[in-house]
Order: sequence, then structure tokens, then C-alpha cells
Amino acid sequence: MSDKAKLKIKDKEIELDLIVGSENELGIDISALRANSNVITLDPGYKNTGSCQSSITFLDGEKGILRYRGYSIEELAEKADFLEVAFLLIYGELPNKKQLDKLLSDINENSLIDEDIKKILENFPKSAHPMGILSSLTSALIAFDPLAVDVNSEDDMYDAFVNILAKIPILVAWVYRRRRGLPLDYGDYSLGYVENITKMMFQLPNSEYVQNDTLVNAINKLLILHGDHEQNCSTSTVRIVGSSHAGLFASISAGISALWGRLHGGANQAVLEMLEAIENDGGDTKKYMAKAKDKSDPFRLMGFGHRVYKNFDPRAKIIKVAADKVLDELGIDDPILEIAKGLEKEALEDQYFVDRKLYPNVDFYSGIIYKALKIPNEMFTVMFALGRLPGWIAHWREMRKNKEPIGRPRQIYTGENLRNFTNIESR
Ligand code: SDX
Repeated sequence: MSDKAKLKIKDKEIELDLIVGSENELGIDISALRANSNVITLDPGYKNTGSCQSSITFLDGEKGILRYRGYSIEELAEKADFLEVAFLLIYGELPNKKQLDKLLSDINENSLIDEDIKKILENFPKSAHPMGILSSLTSALIAFDPLAVDVNSEDDMYDAFVNILAKIPILVAWVYRRRRGLPLDYGDYSLGYVENITKMMFQLPNSEYVQNDTLVNAINKLLILHGDHEQNCSTSTVRIVGSSHAGLFASISAGISALWGRLHGGANQAVLEMLEAIENDGGDTKKYMAKAKDKSDPFRLMGFGHRVYKNFDPRAKIIKVAADKVLDELGIDDPILEIAKGLEKEALEDQYFVDRKLYPNVDFYSGIIYKALKIPNEMFTVMFALGRLPGWIAHWREMRKNKEPIGRPRQIYTGENLRNFTNIESR
């Protein structure tokens, strides 16, 4: 097979290199296209456009495959611990015990946040959305630790990754606790990473904290499942912000803001709100299916559809099974789960959804578990951000180590042609 693509533009033929990935994906390298033809490509939403070559995550939307550094999401979700998956995403290999123990102890040594951050947090209105607070506080941390990361030093980058892996969970716990009017505290650094996150979030000041293994195992699995997803909107945001050589914390803060959108990570909150609306409406799923198909109605079936998956999102399959298990273990009978399953069944049998290959995505069932764990709807996307943090770090590191150029797309101008200024008297 020729390793070239031929492009004929009017009377000119241009040869373009073909890039073949390790899973035999093919890409046309157009990096010299404009120089050789004065022509650009146009692809709103980048549905057909690759922004980079990456070795972090592979997904096949047609086959419903998702792998982190070659390991299947099914195996990692079943067998791994979130912190070792974070190490895998960032450094490309599963850590040995010495590396994992060192990472955890380095994180614990970095797990203090300047008390002045609490003053910033306390000045947000209680009604402020947790994602807005988290993005702001992540950016605010820069003021307390302004040193730029030396991307030519692996040690310096490791220290920066440890720093952010240490501090973001504390911010998440503090945002959650302030919303509940609880004191802002630290966890117990003799615990594992996820155990400590759950203790920081759920411990109460007037009683001894008893670890709930169902809770820890569910959070661990959900964090792993949200770990990375190649060039999604928020990860692409982290990469493009980082490409200007903005710092790691600034890039992650931008990623949090991108994830907040209801078409992206904000969908998990929107799914629960939709399911609760259906429940309050007497469980009339058919009405909401009709709304989702009505082009004059902006309503979409939240948690359904995906830019890449045109088959089941493998994460949704795992979370659906986990939701059954968690609710069963906690002895919760939540009608919302049955409504979700009914909606899924209806959608999978509906021609509109079948024709458009709309399947449940990662956000469809995750909120049901978070709700069972007594995490409020508006905190769901914060939990998504906590899981996606190592993926964002991994992509920021890869982009900087590859010395990728600043992201600056072109455009096709469709505005006014040259015209002269007219004085206001004559307008
Ligand atoms: C995440 O990219 C990632 O990897 C993201 C993510 C990650 O891990 O980072 O996987 C996490 O963001 C998951 C997606 C969460 N979002 C939602 O659940 C919101 C609901 N879904 C949709 O808004 C939509 O499916 C998107 C945004 C997810 C994908 O949109 P696309 O790829 O731009 O597809 P599209 O809008 O062009 O839709 C194609 C057709 C349209 O109909 P037609 O114009 O062809 O007639 O499908 C329809 C759409 O109207 N459609 C839906 C629908 N999703 C698409 N119709 C009803 N309900 C929906 N949910």
C-alpha cells in the first residue's frame, strides 16, 4: 500500500504522507498542505481531524475498545488501584511496589494546602457550582506555588505531578464539605490514595470514621474508568493551553472548565436531573424519548451518544454492572436505576437511536452510583475531573516532551471584503 495520499486540487496534484499508528489507524499528514497548495482543510468539531500522535490511550469506537497504554479498561477496572493507573497513564508502565509506595509517600508529603486557600473558598457563594470553584482554586494554587515546571527535568515534572495529584483531591473534598457546611480537614495519610480521598470527603467531626469498602471500591473503579479518553474536549483543552507553555496547574484548570460543559463531563449531572424529571413525571420514558427525537425540541437524551463510540461505551457497560452491585450491597432500591434501564432498552430498540448509533456513554449510569454514595448531583462532574486528572497530566507531559508547537488552527474567512471607514455623521 502506498505510504502516500494524492490530493487533486483543481489542476494541481499534491502528495501527502500517510501516518500509520500501532493499531493500523491511518492518518494523512497535512502539516505541509498550506505551504504546498495555499489550501487548508476545514473540520468543525475536528470530527475527522487528528491533533497529535499519542501513545497514552487507544479507543476503537466501532468495536467499543478502550485501552490505557495497551491494558484493557475491563482488566484495569477489575484488578487495578487508581493510583497505579495514574502512574501507568503518566509514565507508560504499571509501577512496581517500590515505585507505587514512593508515589504515595511523595503525595502524602505534599498534601498540605495554604490556609489562605480556605479564605478564597469561603468567599464563594454556597450556591456556586463546584466545578467553577474547583477550576478557580486550581488556578489559585499557582499563586502559592508559582515556580514553573522545568519540562526538561523528569524530576521537576515528577514533583509537579505529585503536587497536583496531592492537592486536587483535597480541593475536591473541601468543595464537597463546604457545600455541606462541614469543617475543612485533611485525611489520614496512613491510608491508601482512594481510601484517603473518601475519608477526607465523608468523615464527620462528631463520630469515628468507619471505612466503607463498597464506597471505596466503587470510587476506585469510577476514577479508573474516567482516567483518560484520548483527545476528548477537555484533554484537547489541556493540550492546547499547555502548548502555549502555560503551566500545568493553569492547563488543568482550563481542562476542568471544558469538562464542566453538559455535552461533556457535565452530562453525568444532567443525566440524573433528566432521570429525576422522568421519575417525577410518573416514569413516562416514552415522552422523553419523543422529546429527544423532536428536532424542534432542544432536549437530548443525556448520557446517550458519543463522538467516537458508535457501539457501546465499554465504560458504560462496566458502570451499569457496578451500579447494580453497589445498590445491592448498600441495600438501596432506587427506582431511578430501573428508569435508566428502561430508557436504555427503549433507546436501543428505537430506529432513531439505532440509525444514529446512539448508545449509553460513560455518563449514563455513573450518577446513579454517585447518588447511592450520597454525593450530590452537582458534585458528579467534580468526581469525573478527579478521575480524569492523571489523563490530563499524561497528555500535558506527552505534549511538552514532544515539544509540540503552539496550537493555532487556521480558518476560512467569510466576512466583509475591504471597505473604507465612514465618519459617524454619514452613517
Ligand atoms: C463525554 O469525547 C469523549 O471521549 C468524551 C467522554 C470522555 O470520556 O472524555 O467520553 C465523556 O463527554 C461523554 C458524552 C457525554 N455527553 C452526553 O451524554 C450529552 C448527550 N450526547 C450528545 O449531546 C452527543 O451525543 C455528543 C455531544 C456526545 C456527541 O455529539 P456529536 O458527535 O457532535 O454528534 P451530533 O451532535 O452530530 O449528533 C449526531 C446525530 C444528530 O441527529 P441528526 O442531526 O443526524 O438528525 O445524533 C443526534 C443529533 O441530534 N444525537 C442525539 C443525541 N446525541 C446525538 N439525539 C438525541 N439525544 C442524544 N443524546
